[in-house]
Formats: sequence, structure tokens, C-alpha cells
Amino acid sequence: AQWRGREGEGFADLAPLERVRQETSLCTRCPLHCNATQAVFGEGPDDARIMFVGEQPGDREDLAGRPFVGPAGSVFDQATEAAGISRAGVYVTNAVKHFKHEMRGKRRIHRRPERPEIEQCRHWLVQELDVIDPKIIVALGATAYFALTGDTAAVEEVRGYPIPLAEGRILFVTTHPSYLLRLPEGIERQTAHRRFQEDLQAVARLAQ
Ligand code: URA
Repeated sequence: AQWRGREGEGFADLAPLERVRQETSLCTRCPLHCNATQAVFGEGPDDARIMFVGEQPGDREDLAGRPFVGPAGSVFDQATEAAGISRAGVYVTNAVKHFKHEMRGKRRIHRRPERPEIEQCRHWLVQELDVIDPKIIVALGATAYFALTGDTAAVEEVRGYPIPLAEGRILFVTTHPSYLLRLPEGIERQTAHRRFQEDLQAVARLAQ
């Protein structure tokens, strides 16, 4: 069998972000690693001013090993681009690094991560925050907000305005792009899209 090492072992010479990535790839802190293809670590420059935090990788992300490359990623890419935020300049990650799902026939259906899984995975999110040291953190949805604050408030209670954090950081909460995809086509979805877009424009202004 191939030797894969243990968490924290043999990575001392790596750059900090690469070290955390390698350690995350070996994570067994919760059972989600058992059924996932791989851990999906964050992506982006290690000096990014803005860090986006999603919920967990989806089916496509699990296979690709990269965050936000599936349908939710397309919504995210379009909205950030329209707000003048370059994806190449921001750091994009998830609160939970392994894809939680159940099989329905041959399809892998997303299941929401639960509190213990989010709490275990915070170990990695905190290290990403330490290395990147972003000025603005954008929580995409309630799971990310909970992972970042420990608060179980619903998105609508806290979205759309800057929330000061320790170390001069600002937290901004908005909806998760997958929520937009779940809404039926029509006025409700259009309104939700517009509000998401307005939130990202507010993030772009904060980053100036
Ligand atoms: N949803 C997320 O929260 N993150 C991804 O990477 C993809 C979909």
C-alpha cells in the first residue's frame, strides 16, 4: 500500500498554505472522508483580501478536487464577475472539506453537513484564515456563517451588512448560490438573484 503519512508529518518544509492543504488531504477527523473521493481544499492567492466560504464540495467538486466548479460555481462566477470581483484574486473555500451525500440509485445526492462535522472541519478553516489573513470574509449561507462565528442565526437575520470581527476583519453574509438554483424559475428566483448580486457589489465596495 502507498504510504500516505499522518497529519502533521513530513510537511514542515512546505509553504504554509500547501502544508495545510496536504494535511487536510489526510483528514480523518469525522467520518465524511470515508465516502468522498478526496478533500477539496480552498483555492486562490495566499495574500487574497477577500475569502469566500461555501458549505461543502458538491458532486462535481468532489471529483475535480476544486471548490465551486459545478452549477453553484457557475452562479458564483457570474455574480462575482458582474460585481467586478476577479475569481483569480480571491480565495474560495468551504466550511466542510469532504462531500457529504447519500446514494439514490446511481446518483449522489447532497446532504447538509451537521454540526459535529462542521465543528471538526473548523480545524482546517481556522488554519486557512490564519495563512490568508483576509480583510473581508464572505459567508455563503448559514453553514459557513455558523462555521465562522458559532452562531446559528438564519442567513436572512444577518445578511447584507458588514459585521466587524476580531483582528480588523469584516464578515459579510449572503445566500448560498445553490439556494438560487433550487428556487423555481420566476420572480422569486429573479429577486433572490438580484439580492445576491447587490450583496456581492457591497462586498466589492468594502474591498476597495
Ligand atoms: N457548494 C459549496 O458550498 N461549495 C462548493 O464548492 C460547491 C457547491
